[in-house]
Amino acid sequence: MSSLEEAIACPVCYKTLTIAPQDCNQCHNYFRNELAKLPSSSLDLTPARVKGEIEETANAKPLRTELFRLPIISFLYERILPPIWAMGLRNLGGIDIEFQQCVEFFGQNLKVVADISCGTGIIARRLALLQQYEQIIALDYSEAMLGKLQQQIQLEGILPSQITIIRGDIAALPFAANSLDAVYSGAAMHCWPDATRGIRNIYQALRSGGKLFATTFLQPLPSIVFRFFTPNELQQIAIAAGFHPDCVQVETRGVYAIIRCIK
Ligand SMILES: C[S@@+](CC[C@H](N)C(=O)[O-])C[C@H]1O[C@@H](n2cnc3c(N)ncnc32)[C@H](O)[C@@H]1O
Repeated sequence: MSSLEEAIACPVCYKTLTIAPQDCNQCHNYFRNELAKLPSSSLDLTPARVKGEIEETANAKPLRTELFRLPIISFLYERILPPIWAMGLRNLGGIDIEFQQCVEFFGQNLKVVADISCGTGIIARRLALLQQYEQIIALDYSEAMLGKLQQQIQLEGILPSQITIIRGDIAALPFAANSLDAVYSGAAMHCWPDATRGIRNIYQALRSGGKLFATTFLQPLPSIVFRFFTPNELQQIAIAAGFHPDCVQVETRGVYAIIRCIK
């Protein structure tokens, strides 16, 4: 079994293909079939799909999640926002700086690295092109964002085997415990239905010594659609998720926060 097959788990029973019994229940049969699509296709491992439920009625999400399922938003994230971020509105100088900071923090010799809430994969694609890590996983809830990611992968000449694309929910991540070496989650916590639960799920998926590099926006931005935090709240969320207080660092630049945690 590859490190990828050991990392990806059913989001309902949390078993990987390595430990699932042959006669496993219905959820695992769906899971097995999705995994068989690798590496040529993206996987839908949202709990509703795995359980065969009708998603919209069974699992309604808040506007801050649903908004990103609109195709126009993926266009904004790919074409309009990156040059605006580069003027200093996101991190010091946009996504290139954020990528450098992330890679410096992650270090070398990592096997499985995940970009969680990857959007159009602006960092996942850079991680793949770097060719420094064995497996890159890009996960997001929005089909539109992931569709754009697939288009960009083709345009940039990235092989499908270089990025595993998963439609998944931060509330039920499809990863085995202690299976990921590092997680990047950019500008995403303020979009999740429950940030504490999301960071706890990432903590559980990280192996001991695994690293989380996350960014988000801060108050006094008003929490109308999104839920913005204070630096202290971010620290408390990471600690409540399981990270030791000494292994949590929250850095702020105006209304932008960079969170570095080591499990
Ligand atoms: C502001 S975008 C950031 C995208 C990308 N990481 C970036 O840095 O540009 C937030 C992303 O979080 C995703 N998201 C929102 N709710 C989610 C959930 N419940 N599970 C997984 N991803 C979610 C959205 O689909 C969206 O792509």
